[in-house]
Amino acid sequence: MLAALDGLPLQCSEACGNLSEQVKLPEIEAISNILVTGLGGSAIGGDLLRVYAADKISIPVIVNRDYTVPEFVGPDTLVFAISYSGNTEETLSAYEQAQARGASVIVISTGGKLGEMALRDGVPLVKVPSGYAPRAATGFLFIPALKILQRLGFLPGLDGEIMAMAGFVRELHTKLGAQSPMAENPAKQIACKLHQKIPVIWGSTGTTEVVAQRWKGQINENAKVPAYWNVFPELNHNEIVGFQLPAEILKRIHVIILRDGQDHPQVQKRMEITKGVIKDVVDGYTEVWSSGDNALSRLFSLIYTGDYTSVYLAALYGIDPGPVKVIDYLKQELQ
Ligand code: F6R
Repeated sequence: MLAALDGLPLQCSEACGNLSEQVKLPEIEAISNILVTGLGGSAIGGDLLRVYAADKISIPVIVNRDYTVPEFVGPDTLVFAISYSGNTEETLSAYEQAQARGASVIVISTGGKLGEMALRDGVPLVKVPSGYAPRAATGFLFIPALKILQRLGFLPGLDGEIMAMAGFVRELHTKLGAQSPMAENPAKQIACKLHQKIPVIWGSTGTTEVVAQRWKGQINENAKVPAYWNVFPELNHNEIVGFQLPAEILKRIHVIILRDGQDHPQVQKRMEITKGVIKDVVDGYTEVWSSGDNALSRLFSLIYTGDYTSVYLAALYGIDPGPVKVIDYLKQELQ
């Protein structure tokens, strides 16, 4: 897993290349909405796309993690069906439904049944390299969708931003990778704070929301511990009331607050006030600020920090971050 994380900068550069260039785009008359359908590590790229595209694309981008697609999906919908393995049953079912509704579907996968279905139906297939855990293939699953939107004319100026992000991720790797010592490595330091604790990750709607979800998923799958996420301002209207349990329970919680300079000023104020509310009742909180010059870099700076944190946390628990036996078991039982 560590090697896969170390390879992210290369993966991003590779995914920028010709992965999606050879794919023949569907004839699209008019697109009114975009749906990304997938699960787990294959869906997170959809959320990245949704957050990144929010102020750049004038049509809605919706992420679907289900067997069925929403009512609105029809001939004016562009659907990205993303499954790294190509065998996730929810995605296969959603794909069939989107096809039946006449949507323009594009598949991103290593192959599997979804790849076969795409070939059968003449649906464009972006074939990504195999041999990764889906959650470690974010560059391959996310960037081709961005590039396709660029080819369709939705995201002019994207190339510069992706290349800048790939370069920035390379710099981050020096800071976050295993060779970087504890004193200079924020991911190693955060992993120590989360060890023996229940991580609660807080982001903010529209900026770090997807990052909070990613941190939670990575901690679950890599370190094999429960973790929970939520967003400001919503959590100030419910979750925060829950921090009144006896100290022996709350002292097991360590809160991560994901910060971004673009957060709404009132959200930033809420974060400051909330820190005061929780500081004496939980084990502690750690603020992690995004860095980077553009929206993609800021997102990836936090994601990459969380990815490394989850792997270092696995090491502290003496756990192999790779296998996700219970996910495999569930998939097998459902067949
Ligand atoms: C495993 C992982 C899972 C899978 C999910 C869907 O590394 O990240 O969350 O991504 O079970 O499987 P795929 O991605 O093959 O469609």
